[in-house]
Amino acid sequence: MPYAHITGWGMAVPEQVRTNDDLSKMVETNDEWIRARTGIRERRIASEDESSATLGAGAALCALEVANLRAADLDLIIVASSSPEHIFPATASIIQDRIGAINAGAFDILAACTGFIFAVNMAAQSIRSGASKNVLVVGAETLSRFVDWTDRNTCILFGDGAGAFVLQANEERGGVLAEVMHSDGSGGDLLSLPAGGSKLPASLATVQSDLHFIKMDGKSVFRFATRVMARATKETLEKVGLEPEDIDLVIPHQANTRIIEAAARGLKLPMEKFMVNLDRYGNTSTASVPIATVEAFQNGRINPGDTVVMVGFGGGLTWGALVAEWTGPLPSERKVRHGWFLFLARIRSVLLRILRIVEGLLWGRYRRKKK
Ligand code: UT7
Repeated sequence: MPYAHITGWGMAVPEQVRTNDDLSKMVETNDEWIRARTGIRERRIASEDESSATLGAGAALCALEVANLRAADLDLIIVASSSPEHIFPATASIIQDRIGAINAGAFDILAACTGFIFAVNMAAQSIRSGASKNVLVVGAETLSRFVDWTDRNTCILFGDGAGAFVLQANEERGGVLAEVMHSDGSGGDLLSLPAGGSKLPASLATVQSDLHFIKMDGKSVFRFATRVMARATKETLEKVGLEPEDIDLVIPHQANTRIIEAAARGLKLPMEKFMVNLDRYGNTSTASVPIATVEAFQNGRINPGDTVVMVGFGGGLTWGALVAEWTGPLPSERKVRHGWFLFLARIRSVLLRILRIVEGLLWGRYRRKKK
C-alpha cells in the first residue's frame, strides 16, 4: 500500500492588514479586549480583485513549487472553503483552470473550518487506495465578504487567506498515517451563514435581515472546541500506537489562543509544542492549518522524522485530526519550469473558450439551415 506523503506546502495572503485598532474605529471594541479574549492582533483582508480562487491558486502554485511537481501531473484537486467563489461551479474547478491542472478531477468539500483536515484525510485515503498519485488540497477563504462589520462578536475573529498541500504516493513509510473525522449536525445553528442556499435563496428580505452574514453563538462554539481538540488528537494517535508525548508539533486550527491552551492542558503538553500564528492572521477557517504549517517550516519547527498532528473544529459541527510523520520532501529529479507551464495553460484555457464560442455559432447556423 503506498503512503501519502505531504511533499509541498504553500500559502497566499492579501497584503491589506486590518489591526485591532482599525476595528475599534468600526465597532465598540479595543485592542486589549481582542488580544486578551482571542490572541488576535491583526488579520488580512482581500482587495476587490482577490477572491478565494485567486488566493487558492496562489497557494497551490507555491505548494507545487515546493513539491517540484507540474500542475499537469496532478490527478485530483480538493478545495475546502467556507467562503467558496460560488455555490457552483466549484472553486476547485476555477483553481484547476488557473493553474493548468489539465489532467485533474476537481471538487469542493464543505466542513467549515475543519474542511482542510477532512480534505487532506480524503486525499490521503485516495492515495492509499491507489486511486490517485498526486493530489492538491487547498483551503481558501475570503470570509471578510461574509462578516457583518457591525457585529463585534464575529468581525474581530476572521481573516482572509489560503494555504495548500501537495500529497504524493510513495512506498517509503511516512506522510499521513492516521486520521479521524467527526460531525454533530445537531449543533449546526451554532455557527452558520443562513441565507444564499436553497433554503433561503437571496431576496430583498434575506438581505434586509442580514442573513447573508456569519452568525455565531461564540460561547457554545468555544465550549465545544475545548472538548474536542484534545480528544480527536488522542483518538488519532491511538490508531498508530502513539502517545501525546511522542508528538513533535501540533498544528491546530487557529481560532483562539484560549482554545489552543485548553487543548494543550487536555494533552498535558507545553504550549511550545503548538504552532500558533493567529495573532497575525486571525481565524482563516480552512486556510489556518496550511498557513500555520508553511510558517512552521519557515521557522524550522518541522524537521525530517518529526511526528506532527493537525487538528481542527468548526461549524457543522465538525472536528477531526490527522497524524503525519515527516520524512522530508521527496522531490522529483528535474526542476519544473512552472512559469512556462502556466503560460501554456493560460493559452489553452483561452483557446478552449474561443472554441466553445465558435462551436456555438456553427451549431446555430446548422440548426437554422436545417429549419
Ligand atoms: O472556527 C470556529 C470559529 N469560532 C470560534 O472559534 C469562536 C469560539 N468562541 C470564542 O472564541 C469566544 O467565545 C469569543 C472570542 C467569540 C468571545 O469571547 P468570550 O470570552 O466568550 O466573550 P463573551 O461572548 O462571553 O462576551 C463577554 C463580554 C460581553 O459583555 P457582558 O455581557 O459581559 O457585558 C460581550 O458583550 O464581552 C463583550 N464583548 C466584547 N467586548 C469588546 C463581546 N465581543 C466584544 C468585543 N469587544 N469584540
